[in-house]
Amino acid sequence: MSGFVEKPEPLQVPGLVHLHTGKVRELYQNEAGDLVMVASDRMSAFDWVLPTEIPDKGRVLTQLSLWWFERLQDLIGNHVISTDVPDGAPDDWAGRTMVCKSLRMVPVECVARGYLTGSGLAEYEQTRTVCGLALPEGLSDGSELPAPIFTPATKAAVGEHDENVSYEEVARQVGAETAAYLRQSTLAVYSLARDIARDRGIILADTKFEFGFDGDELIIADEVLTPDSSRFWPAASWEPGRAQPSYDKQFVRDWLTSPASGWDRKSEQPPPALPQEVVEATRTKYVEAYELLTGTAWH
Ligand SMILES: Nc1ncnc2c1ncn2[C@@H]1O[C@H](COP(=O)(O)OP(=O)(O)O)[C@@H](O)[C@H]1O
Ligand SMILES: [Mg+2]
Repeated sequence: MSGFVEKPEPLQVPGLVHLHTGKVRELYQNEAGDLVMVASDRMSAFDWVLPTEIPDKGRVLTQLSLWWFERLQDLIGNHVISTDVPDGAPDDWAGRTMVCKSLRMVPVECVARGYLTGSGLAEYEQTRTVCGLALPEGLSDGSELPAPIFTPATKAAVGEHDENVSYEEVARQVGAETAAYLRQSTLAVYSLARDIARDRGIILADTKFEFGFDGDELIIADEVLTPDSSRFWPAASWEPGRAQPSYDKQFVRDWLTSPASGWDRKSEQPPPALPQEVVEATRTKYVEAYELLTGTAWH
């Protein structure tokens, strides 16, 4: 079992049709037919959406995505139309709302990895491959790869696990031309972002993009290069051969797997509420990622 511990009741706003409750975002359609994406403060870990929110998280994710979209715009078009809060929506939507082009989404999680960890490491240890791509001997948890790789995954429903798929499988599903474009764009955007982050003392170990068709043009959508969609590691403490401290979920994962939580990850039970100090420490990490990357103070 997994998914929402408490499924949220979406707010109804006159003039907006509620489309979907994602793990983190509420999706609406406005009267112009555009998509209104509102990021909540919800947090997920171990495939659960936790019962405790992290204050400011929705705004941090939204502001960071917008900052990145701007940095990337010479490389790739994006779905943002405006950040206006729709008439009749509550004031607290400000800063966490993006009005976007409603795209025909490509159902592939476009992952780029420049470093080995997580599901990539697990596969490497079995077969010396990641998503079927051969890698050299001698890599360990946190190692930099010889070059970044495209390791697509299928998009899973809430509570399910994304599954890595081969490039050939993606090409079968979306066509050879689209697959080639996804791979090339994913690697180009990752490489640019990796260099920007590196200058600011952050290693962008891996990240996930989603793309969609605006007419017949493929552009980048969803959120980009946030702590929710990426692994950020402090460059100063990077040391291959062990798990790296991650920027965002470390405190939450550590606490949930510690005896203090009383929760057994492998049980069917939903995870418990987070204690205040874990909430605060996590909020601080999200804000710190924002401040380091953008070079501006959070307010
Ligand atoms: N421009 C867009 N057009 C249509 N759908 C989009 C667009 N941008 C993002 N999405 C979709 O909106 C949802 C974002 O909500 P989120 O809470 O992140 O969901 P998830 O639980 O799927 O990660 C995702 O399903 C994503 O594919
Ligand atoms: Mg998402």
